[in-house]
Amino acid sequence: MTSTHFDKAATDWDTKQPRVQLAAKISAAIARLPLSATMDAMEYGCGTGLVGLSLAPTLGHLTAIDTSQGMLDVLQEKIVEQGIANVSPLRCDLLIDDYSKRHDLIFCAMALHHVQEFEPLLQRFAGLLNQGGYLALADLAQEDGSFHDPSAEGVHHHGFDSEQLAAILSAAGLIKIKSEIIHTLIKGEGDGTQYPVFLLSAQKA
Ligand SMILES: C[S@@+](CC[C@H](N)C(=O)[O-])C[C@H]1O[C@@H](n2cnc3c(N)ncnc32)[C@H](O)[C@@H]1O
Repeated sequence: MTSTHFDKAATDWDTKQPRVQLAAKISAAIARLPLSATMDAMEYGCGTGLVGLSLAPTLGHLTAIDTSQGMLDVLQEKIVEQGIANVSPLRCDLLIDDYSKRHDLIFCAMALHHVQEFEPLLQRFAGLLNQGGYLALADLAQEDGSFHDPSAEGVHHHGFDSEQLAAILSAAGLIKIKSEIIHTLIKGEGDGTQYPVFLLSAQKA
């Protein structure tokens, strides 16, 4: 499991304000789901925990999964510094490694476009949800490929058509599928191109 690009980016990940602002918008949108202190949650592609750590106080437990050890190391430092007791970082690739714990909430913020085979991953999320559990996916709406620097590694999708994602989730047994635009990123050094970010939520029947 290699993740060189994200390992290198981890130490100053939290210093980029647009990224922090986006994470706050995503957290606020996920917090509109009926979260509770009894929920056993998983975040996939958690990075340094910008989204997960803000939601953790409203959850019972959060398993924070990523493939980058560098990202997980930064998250672990924050957990220790802040004395957080209910977040467990885990290095895991759900499409390769054994993982069978079931959850009441699974969320994934800005990580899906880094996963080549996203359809089996969405099916895996659906399979790992408890009955009545929630899935929340935040990612870029379809864009023209200009969002990432051309030299960026591990970018497999130029955003997503949320109707296509909804069809996959529906076939995987999820219901009450809703999508909304929750934020729009504008690249400061670019030509002002707008990149809408959606939150797609669904529930396991
Ligand atoms: C753009 S970052 C988002 C991090 C965090 N969710 C946030 O909003 O700040 C994408 C994250 O997905 C992780 N990632 C990339 N491919 C992955 C995979 N196949 N499985 C799990 N995590 C992955 C990266 O290591 C990185 O931490």
